[in-house]
Amino acid sequence: MAQLPARTRSIRLLRAACHAAIAALALAAGAVQAGGKVHPAAWPAATHATGLDADGERRVGELLARLSVEEKVGQVIQTDISQLEPGDLRQFPLGSVLAGGDSGPGANDRAPPAAWLALARAFRAVSTEERPGHVPIPVLFGVDAVHGHNNIIGAVLFPHNVGLGAAHDTELVRRIGAATAQQVAATGLDWTFAPTLAVPQDVRWGRSYEGYSQDPALVRDYASAMIEGLQGPPGAGGLLQSGHVAATAKHFLADGATREGVDQGDATVDEAELVRVHGAGYAAAIRAGVLTVMASFSSWQGAKMHGNRALLTDVLKERMGFDGFVIGDWNGHGQVPGCARRRCTAAFNAGIDMFMAASGWRGLYANTLRAVRAGEIPMARLDDAVRRILRVKLRLGLFAPERPFEGRFDLLAPVELHELGRVAVRESLVLLKNDGVLPVRASARVLITGAAARDVRAQTGGWTVSWQGADTLPADLPEATTIEDGLRAAIDAGGGIVVDAAEDPAASRPDVAFVVFGEPPYAEGAGDLKLPLYGSRAALTQLRYLRRLGIPSVAVFLSGRPLWVNPELNASDAFVAAWLPGTEGEGIADVLVGDSQGKPRHDFRGRLSFPWPRTVAAEPFARGDRRPLFPLGFGLSYAHGGRLPRLPEDILGRPPSPVAAH
Ligand code: GLC
Repeated sequence: MAQLPARTRSIRLLRAACHAAIAALALAAGAVQAGGKVHPAAWPAATHATGLDADGERRVGELLARLSVEEKVGQVIQTDISQLEPGDLRQFPLGSVLAGGDSGPGANDRAPPAAWLALARAFRAVSTEERPGHVPIPVLFGVDAVHGHNNIIGAVLFPHNVGLGAAHDTELVRRIGAATAQQVAATGLDWTFAPTLAVPQDVRWGRSYEGYSQDPALVRDYASAMIEGLQGPPGAGGLLQSGHVAATAKHFLADGATREGVDQGDATVDEAELVRVHGAGYAAAIRAGVLTVMASFSSWQGAKMHGNRALLTDVLKERMGFDGFVIGDWNGHGQVPGCARRRCTAAFNAGIDMFMAASGWRGLYANTLRAVRAGEIPMARLDDAVRRILRVKLRLGLFAPERPFEGRFDLLAPVELHELGRVAVRESLVLLKNDGVLPVRASARVLITGAAARDVRAQTGGWTVSWQGADTLPADLPEATTIEDGLRAAIDAGGGIVVDAAEDPAASRPDVAFVVFGEPPYAEGAGDLKLPLYGSRAALTQLRYLRRLGIPSVAVFLSGRPLWVNPELNASDAFVAAWLPGTEGEGIADVLVGDSQGKPRHDFRGRLSFPWPRTVAAEPFARGDRRPLFPLGFGLSYAHGGRLPRLPEDILGRPPSPVAAH
């Protein structure tokens, strides 16, 4: 989480503090036993291979034995690059730094790749200095590269996870992971906070698009594919030397199961559902050798995950055999009852191995050191956390001087990645309706309109250059092609005409109109909705006008999730769910525009990985108590079309009253 506007931040802090105070009082009164009862034997005993052999473990032990308590405490604290300078590591030997969504070298989240590499090297240099009282241990540098290296200007960015889920293609996901790892390694960073293994249950959650699917089996398969793409095959060593980086399975656990999809809320599912649905990705991730797991801000049955020892330690580490390390989320430890950003023994003793301490990290360092000296944090717990961190650093190849991929900025946007991104876009598209207007002949006379036709931000969404992605400019994504770019190129190539979008279609009389529209960019709680309702009606007005003129229309909907759009479905002749496709907007024209004779160049392959709302009634689909409009797995194609009857336009799905029909 990056720096929110001050007012938002203070409201959030106040809300979190109130929740924590209430929980603490209830706990103290014995009124509430926070957290459900956990039965580790009910969980899969996954085997985990960080890939360290006996020699590696011996080396970890030797390093650990040389560390002072001050340096051990340093290893378990990470802070954001906006909070310190490389030189600060001399006084505070932190084990890791991160670049949060809005952070960049020199407080510039639009810094060029060379500036990122220089900063990474500066931190690494100080952390590996030979100086009295210091054991040289390279600092780990983490970043959210969640759909390509999305902090970096000029990188190819892939579809967000919701679109990859619709593609149902694990090999594609593996290739994207491998490509992303090389982009990250090229800039000198070592670790990405991906993949998200949430199984979102309610599309009102602002992070639904970070999830692959509501189908745990798909999340399980993608977990393995993405982690092996990012890290390389399980058990291999020297990741950085082979152009791989550390991955993160996040956010443990059940971040996508909170009531009403409230971000950082409370998941009240029972343990059986926790194992079967929300744990599915983690067992696979552990088997794939994932090196880190990030704890969730959310709670399970009233207990904050950051303080849940039963799940973080008894289940994840002991039962499932995870032997990498658990990173907390952005000051998430501060939400644990009895904790604050600068002081939290409960989260550390529960199983957080490294605090993600954005602000207040100096205080946290001092208080954690004091807690260890006072015995509030057992030395055995501190040693276990540091051992885990050293194990990951060794497995990564962080101590080795060779970094052959550093400076390879040609890996950020080579032709192969543009093609890979374009394939991903094509495979992610889901056809919900086609009354015969698609594929459009390349020789046709077309109108391209809609607020998102030329808005690259609508394609890339949140986690793009900045945290929210709302201020991303075309200049920030020089490698991007807009959806209009792609449509225009396909029509030009086929001898067709693109009419002037400023002209009234009643005058320009196109054969067909593409209307491209969708959600504005958002990240995390900023994207939470009260109802799964698409809010803007601008596109609907355009679609209805075109319908009145008798001009067939193709709706292209960009969103981070399925939303109720019955009126837009009724008013269009074809409707394509395009999700958040990333920089390769051309992939959409590849499927929607055929050859000059109208034969498809690429067919639709995408199938829904989330059910589509039939109404905006508040109950989530997960418990199966409501039929979706389109179920999981739905998707038409040119080979297998289908007509869509007229849909109710009452938001609760009630049919129009007889009076209204006249
Ligand atoms: C955020 C997110 C997490 C991200 C972290 C670092 O709050 O919850 O997914 O990895 O902070 O940016």
